[in-house]
Amino acid sequence: MAFDRVFLDELAARNDIVDIVSQYVQLKKSGANYFGLCPFHNEKTPSFSVSADKQIFHCFGCGAGGGVITFVMKAEGLEFPDAVRFLADKAGMQVPEQNEAERHAAHRRERLYALCKDAARFFYDTLWLPENRGVQQYFFSRGLHRRVMNRFGLGYAPDSFHALLDAMCAKGYTRDEMMEAGLVSQSEKGRVYDRFRNRVMFPIIDVRGNVIAFGGRVMDDSKPKYLNSPETPIFHKSRNLFALNLAKKTKSEYFILAEGYMDVIALHQAGFDSAVASLGTSLTEEQARIIARHTGQIVISYDADGAGQAAAQRAIDILKKCDLQVKVLKIPGAKDPDEFIREKGADAYRAIIERSENHNAYRLEQLAGKYDLEDDEARVLFLRDAARMLTGIESSIEREVYAGRAAKMAGVTAEAMKNEVGRELAIRRKRQKAQERRQIRSPVGQAQPKDRTLAYTDVRSAKAEENVLRLLFSDQPLIAEAERELPPAWFSAPVLRKIYERVLTLDRAGQIVDVLSFEGWIEPNEMSLLSAILEQGVPAGDHRREMTEYINTIRLQRVKDGTIRQADEDPLLTFGRIKNKMREDE
Ligand code: CTP
Ligand code: MN
Repeated sequence: MAFDRVFLDELAARNDIVDIVSQYVQLKKSGANYFGLCPFHNEKTPSFSVSADKQIFHCFGCGAGGGVITFVMKAEGLEFPDAVRFLADKAGMQVPEQNEAERHAAHRRERLYALCKDAARFFYDTLWLPENRGVQQYFFSRGLHRRVMNRFGLGYAPDSFHALLDAMCAKGYTRDEMMEAGLVSQSEKGRVYDRFRNRVMFPIIDVRGNVIAFGGRVMDDSKPKYLNSPETPIFHKSRNLFALNLAKKTKSEYFILAEGYMDVIALHQAGFDSAVASLGTSLTEEQARIIARHTGQIVISYDADGAGQAAAQRAIDILKKCDLQVKVLKIPGAKDPDEFIREKGADAYRAIIERSENHNAYRLEQLAGKYDLEDDEARVLFLRDAARMLTGIESSIEREVYAGRAAKMAGVTAEAMKNEVGRELAIRRKRQKAQERRQIRSPVGQAQPKDRTLAYTDVRSAKAEENVLRLLFSDQPLIAEAERELPPAWFSAPVLRKIYERVLTLDRAGQIVDVLSFEGWIEPNEMSLLSAILEQGVPAGDHRREMTEYINTIRLQRVKDGTIRQADEDPLLTFGRIKNKMREDE
């Protein structure tokens, strides 16, 4: 979605990046820039910088970067237009009338929300038809009460290829809209039919209360057990959590993170109204950030099986990154929280939450499970592994507590364990310091972009291309000259070529070339690269001459790889001529 540049300028002027970032990160001024701990990855020494004059942020550690809008997109998990609205709200600005295409897109989304809501209503009504007593019985037999079923809007998709299709057509929705909402599928012959048939239905509701998707479960053992809506314009699985619309109102200090729909519903019924689930995938960083916006503590309550425990391990890391206090529940004698509560009751569940282990204890135990602690050699290995793990704990008191525990598990003295941890800690600190020093010495990190998918094939050329871009952003009058001297086709890195082409387009249209004119226009990873390039700044000097040098380097590389061929000329000759010319220039 494109916003008018005048509006974006005003928006950026009223939302200074230093002010906005300060609402999330404690910044300290150092030289021209501000530094702090990166909110997008876990670090102990600040490598996150904000430039007030360039109005960009950049993290030397994880590579994230961009302007104020990109920052809000990342920090709040918003799409570009929503991030713009977020900032407009903050500044008390009116978002301007959208153009025709945007109004159309917004209208289409509204239709999809309405359609999903009507579909949920249809499934709900169908469930409670007298002829569907058997389906109601399915839910009752799983221990659900009517009240909680209503709270979650549970329903039933009848055993028909067109029941929903007909009902929604009658309400004036088109087949295209139903396709877009993921409610119907299309056969190879183009026939459209209901996606969900003979399944109990779990509506997925976003944080604002809109129905955006569905999960449907069979009532027997057939496969697939669950069928979910595909990604749609209003449903992004990685950015939503099941039941967050309810959990966000909780008074509980902590959230509970479960794996399944039924677990969450059973938990809410038992009074744990802060339970949410990631949607049939492993937890994403976006979901973790969303959780962190609502609570500071989270209890992971995954299935007891191996897959559940492995998923819990991964979830710990992702949640810790968001500074959440993480506990992990082990549910004895049941396969998942739903089953546990049904069999042992809410009080038993509350009791295990209260006794539940801090993730460190949990990890130690997982680790110990891997070794035969009766065996001396295995014990030594366990201690080393444990020591390494314990070095990850920031608080020294906490570290000591768990070191003591590990010592007890392995049957050695606390003193011996403490020494081992101390040794590992020293190694770790040294390594970290060295790494951070390296990063600060070469601000762009290595020659390659942080994001591997953008890897340069010709680093020498790409560095020159980066340098040209940096000059063009700081010295806009050079752009016209670059346009004459440097065809986009000479760029070796597609991402840099794309940026260069937009620079030319903007300049031709008489528009400003800055980070703001790229926000929402390039992908976040591309934006990170651009801000890494611009972060370095351009010292005063003869920019025109510098640019000529960079262009010569690029040209040489193109001659070498055969992109440039002078008619009837030996490439080596061309090469020599350019080299000579470069020498003359000097
Ligand atoms: N899931 C899915 N597709 C599947 C299986 C599972 O999307 N084929 C997702 C669902 O969100 C499900 C969650 O993974 O709720 C956990 O799966 P599982 O533990 O198998 O289901 P339960 O929630 O325990 O469901 P039930 O108790 O109804 O068997
Ligand atoms: Mn279950």
